[in-house]
Amino acid sequence: MNDTDVRKGLAGVVADHTAISKVNPETNSLLYRGYPVQQLAAQLSFEEVALLLWTGELPSEAELEEFVQFERSHRALDPRVKQAIDLLPTDCHPMDVGRTAVSVIGANDPDSEDSSAETELLKAKKLFAAFPAVVAYDQRRRRGQDVVEPRDDLDYSQNFLWMTFGEEAAPEVVDAFRVSMVLYAEHSFNASTFTARVVTSTLADLHSAVTAAIGALKGPLHGGANEAVMHTFDEIGIRTDETRQQAAARAKTWMEEALAAKRRVMGFGHRVYKKGDSRVPTMKQALDAMIEHYGRHEILGLYDGLEQAMDEAKGIKPNLDYPAGPTYHLMGFDTEMFTPLFIASRITGWTAHVMEQRADNSLIRPLSAYSGPEERHL
Ligand code: COA
Repeated sequence: MNDTDVRKGLAGVVADHTAISKVNPETNSLLYRGYPVQQLAAQLSFEEVALLLWTGELPSEAELEEFVQFERSHRALDPRVKQAIDLLPTDCHPMDVGRTAVSVIGANDPDSEDSSAETELLKAKKLFAAFPAVVAYDQRRRRGQDVVEPRDDLDYSQNFLWMTFGEEAAPEVVDAFRVSMVLYAEHSFNASTFTARVVTSTLADLHSAVTAAIGALKGPLHGGANEAVMHTFDEIGIRTDETRQQAAARAKTWMEEALAAKRRVMGFGHRVYKKGDSRVPTMKQALDAMIEHYGRHEILGLYDGLEQAMDEAKGIKPNLDYPAGPTYHLMGFDTEMFTPLFIASRITGWTAHVMEQRADNSLIRPLSAYSGPEERHL
């Protein structure tokens, strides 16, 4: 092994096969189990997409109904999880809360150490159903509000927003939220999914894999970017009395200065997509709907100004986090809650990969090229 064999960041390395999703940077396309993600986002519930990712096929009506009932009956915040969250300060990062909550959920799951295929799927479904209450409660406690109990007459997205804000969201808002969940659900061997697969490859349990994946997702080069996008908007300054054009002009100037200072601007660029992220047009439509719904055209001005200036200066395109950040902001989530929303969605992809890795496992253990001192003696 010499230095020329080193593939820094594993860039370009094909680490294994997967049948879960296909990213094609040439055609800007993303398929979940063969289906274009745009079609899934346009037509299916998030619950259906979750089943597709886990099982490989779209559910029958009866299978979907069974899962919907299961999900609705496993939504309540477990008192032991609530107790653990209450021990954490309200100024810690919400990703720390999400990571801790999954750990506590795993420790209390009687099936924790059973990794048979059937039980693994059951654990994935339970975690999918339980996690929204964690995010909703964490958002509420930071605002000094109490838990809102789930409602079993609402679907996943409606109930998520209900538990967070304590009121029924408008259909347009529910739909934009559902679209974001579908788009964030899966993206092949990204850093957090690969982390989940590395942990699974040691034959550790599903909750350990998801807990580790959350750690990887927290970083701003990965999931933390949706939150960082909003910090950029805040740094430029959101002025509700400004026109779209005025906001765009200020954003352009900000971007030119940021690039001149060699700053990395979050929400732009991608390791795999170099001509644009396949998920952005669909998420941008959802953002546009929220801008109309809330009447906040100055946000669109900031969005366009940054995008245009980045394109003109470096030709770097936005990634999914770019439209997702302001969408969640408009819905009323605190900025720090954005990446935990990503967790809620990506639990589906991570757990699908845990199951795939376990079904045909090989310990993931690469080599390194030693660059320390030659052998020496005391
Ligand atoms: N802002 C400014 N410049 C960027 C950039 C960004 N967001 N993304 C890439 N670049 C530039 C780099 O500075 C570098 O320029 P140089 O060759 O002049 O030094 C070039 O593009 C290549 O960047 P590199 O970091 O080597 O590419 P990568 O494939 O490793 O990067 C990311 C992928 C995602 C890490 C990178 O685009 C990034 O940091 N983006 C911001 C974080 C983000 O939004 N992450 C969410 C991903 S879904």
